Amino acid sequence: MKHLALIPGDGIGKDVTDAGMQVLDAVSEISSFNYDAELFDIGSERYLASGTLLEAGEIEALRSKDAIYFGAIGDPRVRPGVLEQGVLLRLRSALDQYINFRPVTSIHPYVPLKRETDFDIHFLRENTEDFYMGMGGRVSSGGDLELSASRRMYDLKISLHLDADVEEDFAVELGLLSRKGVERFAEYSFRHAESLGQDRVTLVDKANVCTGIYGFQREIFKQKAKEHDMELDFMFVDAMAMAMITRPERYGTVAVPNLFGDILTDLGAQLQGGLGLGASGNINPEGVSMFEPIHGSAPDIAGKGIANPIAAVMAVKMMLDNLGCPEEAEMVRKAVSGCLAEGKVTPDLGGKLNTWQVADDIAARILKG
Ligand code: NAI
Ligand code: MG
Repeated sequence: MKHLALIPGDGIGKDVTDAGMQVLDAVSEISSFNYDAELFDIGSERYLASGTLLEAGEIEALRSKDAIYFGAIGDPRVRPGVLEQGVLLRLRSALDQYINFRPVTSIHPYVPLKRETDFDIHFLRENTEDFYMGMGGRVSSGGDLELSASRRMYDLKISLHLDADVEEDFAVELGLLSRKGVERFAEYSFRHAESLGQDRVTLVDKANVCTGIYGFQREIFKQKAKEHDMELDFMFVDAMAMAMITRPERYGTVAVPNLFGDILTDLGAQLQGGLGLGASGNINPEGVSMFEPIHGSAPDIAGKGIANPIAAVMAVKMMLDNLGCPEEAEMVRKAVSGCLAEGKVTPDLGGKLNTWQVADDIAARILKG
């Protein structure tokens, strides 16, 4: 019996996670997969009513689960960033989900880029360091700037002092990698590739310009490649952006640091047919992981019943894989693939079905076996 946490969140988050849970029910009906799910009322409604984003007890309760299934968060009535940082980023960091896993696959007819060969890229984005540590600020003549970051692995304080005779204002944003942070990222990347029977990992960086951090990262990845007896390719991020368009079929497991990963995975989402299809996992290999569609709460279509549930259903598929149920995950993938092949889709993909009809179609395919 697996214990799940369900956080529908805001806007279309509720509709698409309902669809995902319907699909999960179908899976558990015809397989040995069993679960219970605890609902967490986290999101804008509660925040607007009581000012609560996340309670300390909630993080502990989530930590004790086998997996977390998340819809989306964000509400036009709440100042941008409050919910996104106060809930989503806080959860990822409190639960130390240091890998963001985003598959980008072409195995359906909605790929905008027509290629003769299918592609199936697994982006593994480092989720805690690099330029997204919030270590930034401004400093001017004779001034000081204190920057700090707190991670499970370390507490860090950096002070910058600008001499009084330098007459200029500066803004600083630090990109930072720790040895432990890169080691665990590299270790996960090679293990992921191994688990898929692949023999290499591609590391994306800009080591020709940002030599400090990305040179360090290359060294550690090279060491890990040796330990795993695997090949390691390097790609500069600008070249990778081009290669994703010109020859995406060349890539398997792609490790990418936080900032570049944010950008490349959005490009990847479009490459595979849009926001309605992309799913992701926030992975803590030693703890609890959280699975979600990559889209947001889509206030423009919330309540209309036309949200595409496939991204959220594919998040269920990723969750099943992560829970050690590859056969059940494959049932979901196959059903989604059948539904896409027959054009049983929502308006964002040119179809006429609503959210429930797509969910019903996928669930029925699973039940048929
Ligand atoms: P969004 O992803 O919510 O929507 C972008 C566009 O794509 C909209 O036109 C929307 O209607 C469409 N769309 C998204 N998902 C769809 C689906 N499943 N089916 C059909 N169409 C879909 O991004 P946006 O509008 O920039 O942000 C809205 C709110 O969501 C903001 O508050 C934002 O901060 C938040 N957000 C939350 C995320 C999360 O919870 N992981 C991720 C991205 C944004
Ligand atoms: Mg992004």
